[in-house]
Amino acid sequence: MLRIEGLHTHYGPSHILQGVDLAVPRGRICAVLGRNGVGKTTTVRSIMGLVPPTSGRVLLDGQDIAGWAPHLVARAGVAYVPEGRLIFPDLSVLENIRVGERRPAKVWTVERLLELFPSLRERSGNRGWQLSGGEQQMLAIARALVSDPRVVLLDEPSQGLAPLVVRELAAVIKRLCAEGVTILLIEQNMKLAEAVADELHIMVKGRIVYVASPEVFRAEEEEIRGRYLTV
Ligand SMILES: Nc1ncnc2c1ncn2[C@@H]1O[C@H](COP(=O)(O)OP(=O)(O)O)[C@@H](O)[C@H]1O
Ligand SMILES: [Mg+2]
Repeated sequence: MLRIEGLHTHYGPSHILQGVDLAVPRGRICAVLGRNGVGKTTTVRSIMGLVPPTSGRVLLDGQDIAGWAPHLVARAGVAYVPEGRLIFPDLSVLENIRVGERRPAKVWTVERLLELFPSLRERSGNRGWQLSGGEQQMLAIARALVSDPRVVLLDEPSQGLAPLVVRELAAVIKRLCAEGVTILLIEQNMKLAEAVADELHIMVKGRIVYVASPEVFRAEEEEIRGRYLTV
């Protein structure tokens, strides 16, 4: 479904992504873990065309979309939930969702999204700034879904959320997967990644250095954590 091959990305003279290889099969959840600054956000920004990769391929169902403009990547079926959510504070919940709408949704209609996120329904008239962190995260996901994407890129959705809300988030991510959405999940929260992902990837200095199922990862966790994840 989504396959990244030998992706290199620079910010000016800084060589950030140094040959990222990553495959997310259709209907699966793949998580990318890694310390701060290793290039996780740059990876999703490169996929979206927000920073054009220098070389390598981004294959969406076999079509190379590397370097496409962000609106074309979105039209091809990739939705992006950015780090920090980036909700519009002065727009209402419904207006924030509609920002993501390119044409009337067929799969993820606003009605269905409000069913999926009952707390957003209760707050549909509220402004973005009035929402809790968890509600803002759900809103950012709803705004991505309303474009009826094939693939959703989630950049650190658990950031700043209380454990109970993270559990809710895990349930939402699993539900999306069950509904056929393919998910690339960037996380620092290993518990969340382990709970939802079919496959875990670890990034170090702009490369994927480790891939395993959550079961295998758990068996090797202490060593892997020390080697690649703890500061
Ligand atoms: N817009 C930018 N311009 C220059 N350097 C950047 C920019 N964004 C990120 N970087 C650098 O790229 C590296 C990877 O950043 P990022 O992809 O955000 O890491 P992560 O998401 O894994 O924490 C870091 O060293 C960061 O300082
Ligand atoms: Mg990041």
